[in-house]
This record gives sequence, structure tokens and C-alpha cells, in this order.
Amino acid sequence: EKGGFRTYMDKEIHDQPQAVAETLLGRTDAAGRLQLDELRIDESVLRAVDKIVVVACGTAAYAGHVAKYAVEHWCRIPVEVELAHEFRYRDPVVNEKTLVVAITQSGETMDTLMAVRHAQEQGAKVLSIVNTHGSTIPRESDAVLYTHAGPEIAVASTKAFLAQITATYLLGLYLAQVRGNKFPDEIAEELADLRAMPGKIQTVLDRGDHVRVIARWMNSDSVLFLGRHVGYPVALEGALKLKELAYIHAEGFAAGELKHGPIALVEPGQPVFVIVPSPRGRDSLHSKVISNIQEIRARGARTLVIAEDGDEDVKPYADEVFWVPEAPTLLSPLLSVVPLQIFACELATARGLDVDQPRNLAKSVTVE
Ligand code: M6R
Repeated sequence: EKGGFRTYMDKEIHDQPQAVAETLLGRTDAAGRLQLDELRIDESVLRAVDKIVVVACGTAAYAGHVAKYAVEHWCRIPVEVELAHEFRYRDPVVNEKTLVVAITQSGETMDTLMAVRHAQEQGAKVLSIVNTHGSTIPRESDAVLYTHAGPEIAVASTKAFLAQITATYLLGLYLAQVRGNKFPDEIAEELADLRAMPGKIQTVLDRGDHVRVIARWMNSDSVLFLGRHVGYPVALEGALKLKELAYIHAEGFAAGELKHGPIALVEPGQPVFVIVPSPRGRDSLHSKVISNIQEIRARGARTLVIAEDGDEDVKPYADEVFWVPEAPTLLSPLLSVVPLQIFACELATARGLDVDQPRNLAKSVTVE
């Protein structure tokens, strides 16, 4: 069942190229236009949408956080991302022109379900991105976009996360197509970039030993994670994986926040993962993160850097570099999160912990 892997989590990390490939499969018509058959919301309704609100919990919420960068960029629609349990207990501004996107692996998370109902009561249309067929949330939604990650058994979400990001990107490109934000050939180009991702994820997996060795020898009881732009939710996800699996203090920050407080935590030897954006992307973004690495290094941090192949600028300031293949900035989370998953899984395993069933956690949280 575990396909030769030690744990389900290990297997599911290695299933990720397939989870992304399957989620992309069969989404275009003969002319190459995106066609989301399961999406039963009228195009006129999608054209009228003036705001998207993503509701989700945990890792699924981080997928929404990643999606915000892409969907706002491609579609020029404001996207809010809100934890489902926060959304439902305030008085959110949603109406018939709001598209609420619920993201959930299990389809059973109670807080997300309640957020879905609350949104519908306010007149909003709800589209859910779900991995588990036959679950409650897709049944109650106006439209569903399934992720095809296959069953996820380990409590910590990995392949569902990558499939969720992929599905939100399909949705974003579909909205851009329906609303005319992009020319068909631009959409085709983005899709081609997405289709190249499974092979690149495989490359990151093939290089997994480097991060495994570092994880095995990690003796710190606190690890920090820094990222900017799409690297920020990746930092949050890296920290969550480490907390839930290894039970050690881990925090993710937007790198720009460093001077506003978190840098006070940095003392000699403090391990800090930094997710570095592509040097080929928006140049200011890359150089800003490089200066963040310099700042923490100057205070003695042990810098564990995730960077794109060939990025010479990071080398002088990195204690370790985990290289990932080139990819467009918006798609890079599909690669940069993988070393962080491997790190958490390996560190927890090395400490003799049960990575598939961490203490105090359930795979799906069906109570409020
Ligand atoms: O089934 P869901 O996607 O709705 O679950 C949401 C969260 O409970 C889930 O992602 C949780 O944070 C995982 N344990 C993270 O690894």
C-alpha cells in the first residue's frame, strides 16, 4: 500500500508529480481552450463576479493564499483569503457578485462547510475545490472543481496542497478566458508552463537526499521560514509541516516583516529557511530577498536557502542551498514547498515520531 515507502507521507510526497499531472488532465477542448466541465456556474455569472473570497483551513488556506497572487494578476479580480472559522463568525461583505471558493482535501471540514453555508445565505455562489468525491462540501456547493491527487492518508497534507494550487490556477486561467483578460495564446502558454511542472517536481524529489541529510542532523528546537510574494505562503506551509510532524517551534514570516519584529529572534546558530524567488522574475523581488538573507546571516543565522538553478547571488550567503529547476514565479511554490515537506518528514522520522499520525491531530476536522 505504501508502495515501498516507509510511510504514507513519504509516498504521498513522491506522488506529487502525478497529483499535479492528473489534476491538469482533460481540462481543454480540441481547440486547446480551457473547459471545466464540472463547473456548473453560468459564464454570465462568472463575468459579473467582482470579488473572490477563498475560505479554507490549514494547508488548504495556504493554497488559497498562493492562488491570490496568480488570480489577481491574471484576472484583475480582488481575492481575499480567509480562514473559514474566522469568516463565518464575523459579518463578511459578500453578495451575489462574490464568488466564494472553498478549498478542502476531505470535503468534510466542519468550519469550511459552515463558511460555505454562510456565504450561500448571503447570496454568494460557492465553488469548491475538493479532493474527496462523495463528500459533503461539493454536494452543497454551486460548482465543484476536483483535484485528482488520489486518496491522501497521512494526516499532514502534501499532494493535496500541490493539486489545490494547480486547480486554483486552472480556475484563474478559466476566469481570465471567460472574462477576456487574456488572449487564447497567452492562456495556452500558461497551461504549457503548468504542464511542465510535474517533470520539475520530479527533479526536486530526485534531489531529496541533500535536504534529508540536513534534517537528520538538525538539533535546533526552533526553525524559522522566510519568503516574499508566493514564497510567503510557502514559508507558512513549511512551518506548519514542521510543527505538526516534529512538534518543534516553527514560524513562517513574510521576509519584509523581519525588521518589524521577527529579526529579534535571530541569534547565532538559528536555522532559517529562505525561499528565494527567481532572479529572472521581477528583479526587485529577488534582490530584496537576498538582502534579507544578508541581514539574518550577519546576526549569525544558519541560512538554508531554496533557490533556482544557477542563482549565483545566493551562494555567498547560504550555508546550504536546495536547488530547484527554473519556473515562472507564480508556479514556483509547486517546487519550493517540496524540500520543506521532505525536511519535516525526515526530521520527524529521525526523531522516531509517527509522521502519518501525529499526536493530537485528525485527518479531517469534522467538529467545530
Ligand atoms: O480536509 P481539508 O483540506 O479541509 O483540511 C484542512 C486542514 O485541516 C488541513 O490542511 C490540515 O491543516 C493538515 N493537517 C495540514 O497538513
